[in-house]
Amino acid sequence: MAVHESVLFIGAGYVGQNILDELLAAKYPVTTFVRRPEQAAIFESSGAQTVLGSLSDLELITAQVAQHEITINTASADDLPSVEAILAGVRQRVKAGLPSIYLHTSGAGAVHDDSMGAHNDGKIYRDDTPTDIEAIPSTNLHRNVDIAIVEAAHEFGDTAKIVIMLPALVYGYNPAHKRHTQIISLLVRFALKRGFAGYVGEGRNLWAAVHVKDLARAFMTVLEHTEKAPPGALVENPYFFAEGGTESSMKEVAEHLAQTLHDIGRIPGAKAQSWSESDYAEVLGPMTAPILGCNARCQAIRLRELGWKPTEKDMWTSWKEDSAS
Ligand SMILES: NC(=O)c1ccc[n+]([C@@H]2O[C@H](COP(=O)([O-])OP(=O)(O)OC[C@H]3O[C@@H](n4cnc5c(N)ncnc54)[C@H](OP(=O)(O)O)[C@@H]3O)[C@@H](O)[C@H]2O)c1
Repeated sequence: MAVHESVLFIGAGYVGQNILDELLAAKYPVTTFVRRPEQAAIFESSGAQTVLGSLSDLELITAQVAQHEITINTASADDLPSVEAILAGVRQRVKAGLPSIYLHTSGAGAVHDDSMGAHNDGKIYRDDTPTDIEAIPSTNLHRNVDIAIVEAAHEFGDTAKIVIMLPALVYGYNPAHKRHTQIISLLVRFALKRGFAGYVGEGRNLWAAVHVKDLARAFMTVLEHTEKAPPGALVENPYFFAEGGTESSMKEVAEHLAQTLHDIGRIPGAKAQSWSESDYAEVLGPMTAPILGCNARCQAIRLRELGWKPTEKDMWTSWKEDSAS
């Protein structure tokens, strides 16, 4: 069996805990960077080591990154200071002549357009065409962080390997972790409170999606690829989308959600309707229409070229079978 290099895992939450399971099953020595002692105890009982800290403990992050050959970050796609602290740790390793891999988690929301629910002909981004991703405005979601990472990747050249993962909408429930996904939880909370599921405008905008366990295997595929890749091979294209092959309009998402919640007796009717502007306050405030009304369309060409295939249940089946949880 191969002896693996050590991993620092920052932010093992809904997405990350599934990746952590895969890493531990593959016998990677993992240190999790975690803010809650009760979560640290769970990770330790699974076989990981732990360091207690928060994303604002920048010196601690840098010091920890400097001690591990591999860093995986699934804490936040938008927290620039902690990402700069990670890159500072990678820089220390580079200066010491030590190898480094950094897998950062961004999100396919970075490719959003300004549909506001009105249309579904948003551009489909492919991860084998990095020039299109580079052309996304720096003001789009997650882009300020991704651009800082790309600049560092160019600075490091062939002395460190840097990857940016861009998962589509993540769904699926792992009963071992009892954690829920962010955006869908938001939609569920609104529906339970107000008795109907909502969408922006006409809800025609399309989102790709990926099951959380398929996503965890995608991280492993990319990690193994990165470990074997020649130095410098990822500098010109650090991007990997992860999507499971289907797209849904946000109106369809709301309709399925309403039906699912109605079927388990949580809302009185299976009703989905366009939100009024006054509803936005209970969803994402002023960001409701730009985010939940955008097209976020992408294709994970590179993962499929590496042999990864989505094998988990689709989103509607997952909701039907897992909704009682
Ligand atoms: N879920 C999706 O649909 C989706 C789609 C695309 C991209 N993403 C990206 O994937 C990443 C993970 O998402 P997720 O759904 O797994 O989120 P999550 O469940 O909230 O996980 C985030 C993890 O980071 C930890 N964390 C957050 N802030 C921290 C802080 N200040 N200090 C220390 N730890 C902190 C959280 O700790 P606690 O356990 O203490 O809360 C949690 O373990 C994010 O970057 C997200 O933008 C998610």
